Amino acid sequence: MPLIKTTAMFKKAYEGGFAIGAFNVNNMEIVQGITSAAAELNSPVILQCSAGARKYANSRYLVHLVRAALEVSDIPIALHLDHGPDYATCKSCIDDGFTSVMFDGSHYPFAENIAKTKEVVEYAHAHNVVVEAELGQLAGIEDDVKVDADKAHYTKPEEVEEFVSKTGVDSLAIAIGTSHGAFKFKPEQCTRNADGVLVPPELRFDILAEIEKKIPGFPIVLHGASSVIPKYVKIINDNDGKLDDAVGIPEDQLRKAAKSAVCKINIDSDLRLAMTAGIREHFKAHPEHFDPRQYIAPGRDYIKELVMHKIKTVLGSEGSAPGIMELVNQY
Ligand code: G3H
Ligand code: 13P
Ligand code: ZN
Repeated sequence: MPLIKTTAMFKKAYEGGFAIGAFNVNNMEIVQGITSAAAELNSPVILQCSAGARKYANSRYLVHLVRAALEVSDIPIALHLDHGPDYATCKSCIDDGFTSVMFDGSHYPFAENIAKTKEVVEYAHAHNVVVEAELGQLAGIEDDVKVDADKAHYTKPEEVEEFVSKTGVDSLAIAIGTSHGAFKFKPEQCTRNADGVLVPPELRFDILAEIEKKIPGFPIVLHGASSVIPKYVKIINDNDGKLDDAVGIPEDQLRKAAKSAVCKINIDSDLRLAMTAGIREHFKAHPEHFDPRQYIAPGRDYIKELVMHKIKTVLGSEGSAPGIMELVNQY
């Protein structure tokens, strides 16, 4: 089976009220952990590489790791460039065999974002590759933008129709309150529940609904959608790590999003936490070990456990692989 585009995946996800998990990959064990979970649950999956991942691992290694995963697991897989910074990077991925690229022009003024995105779309479509673009900028702690701050950081629903029609883009990432990383909200932006756990503010489902109305049937993407699962944070902290006040997007909110026009949910930080938890736990228990296979395998196992949990509880994509494969030839 070849790598596929996301078109059939998104069509089925939209109609079926579920979302496809887009997981960031940087090395072999991450690819294996994700795809063995997806294969066990007969779920499609998007494996995505950032510019940083391509620099770290060398793009050719990542392409071949993903192709190897395709050979051993009989599920639909798309290979996607995450946060492509410019035309050259998108072109390089398209030429490398990626089936989907994101051009992230969200920091450009509206007209410039349209012009630059359109250029990427023209090259991608001529090579049978789909394009994700972004409108609005994710609020978050990294750039010191408060979630409840200036609405200008959220996607403006009145802009999406023009953006989609002028660029010809295939999916759209929007900003409704998610953010990148394991520290998505400052403690003072959250409330604490009875157990003392930080509870972040609700995502802006009102903005999502307005966007859905403007571009019905169009696939929406959520970046910065890790939940920062407390189990893995606790394992890390219990085994000499130090992650104070890490907080993510509550799973019930992501499930709600997955039932709507959101067809792709991006997850990276949760993978990092799961792998780090496995490795730290192993080292604490076995300080005498020095064979990388001994300590990386538990990280891979936690990634598999995490991805199975996401597919079942958050994404709802379990068992949807056959329906997507049936559709693939039409796109
Ligand atoms: O959204 C960004 C992803 O988490 C990728 O992060 O650039 O460190 O690979 P990275
Ligand atoms: P997280 O940091 O929430 O995992 O987001 C990942 C992401 O959006 C990758 O593009
Ligand atoms: Zn992102």
